[in-house]
Amino acid sequence: MKKRPIVILGAMDVEINYLIDTIGPCQKEEIGMWHFYEGNIDGWPAVVVETLMGSVNAAVPTAFAIRKYDPICLITQGTAGAHHVDIHSRDIVIGETVAQSDFRETGTRPEGGGSDVSKWQYPGSEFLEDGCHVMRTRLRSDPSLVRLAQNVPYKNGHLVTGIIASGDMWNREADVIHEYRQRFGSECEEMESFAVLQVAKAFGVPALAIRIISNNELIPGEEYDRDIGVLGQQYVLDVARAIIEEHKK
Ligand code: 5AD
Repeated sequence: MKKRPIVILGAMDVEINYLIDTIGPCQKEEIGMWHFYEGNIDGWPAVVVETLMGSVNAAVPTAFAIRKYDPICLITQGTAGAHHVDIHSRDIVIGETVAQSDFRETGTRPEGGGSDVSKWQYPGSEFLEDGCHVMRTRLRSDPSLVRLAQNVPYKNGHLVTGIIASGDMWNREADVIHEYRQRFGSECEEMESFAVLQVAKAFGVPALAIRIISNNELIPGEEYDRDIGVLGQQYVLDVARAIIEEHKK
């Protein structure tokens, strides 16, 4: 029987280069702007997708990958910014839950009334579930994939299981970061995981969100470090191996 691949998505070169090298030599496929690198992990088919940055860029190739490859699961992974001072560059967050942090409705305020972040509401995206229209702000990674990832050792920092805030923005204002942390209980923020989980849910495909902290805007000296990307990929590769081993059983 034909083996169904594992699909790993990343937005930027620093989030996929190591993976592509490791699963290669790859066959490269292109659909529109998006590149799909087909290779294998220890003989099991694996596809690395370069999504480009942002939620729409992540959603489109996720849908194509599901239709084209019928994968056993998806891993959305890459770098992220910390949401509090107890989490640092090189720590890894397993996104048990991913919260959509940019689908928002502001409070009503008159002209000259300024803006009050604390009054913003987050209704979430629309889903069709058994014919019913529902709004969801939070989506879960597949629980069994989360458990598998939790058991994969990581030596370059802490391995945290928690909530990832996901949306098309990069927050650098400390007060806004604190507000998001309070609102979502998030460990970190990035731009693609909610979109990937949203599409995965629409097609009923198990998915897992994993992020490595590449910057903590609340701590001087922890500015964005692109070289951290490779450490995240090494861990993700170990997780992919664990998933494949489990799938073989
Ligand atoms: N805020 C938002 N996105 C971030 N990324 C890394 N750090 C952050 C941050 N602090 C990731 C996003 C996107 C690119 C800008 O890097 O997921 O792909």
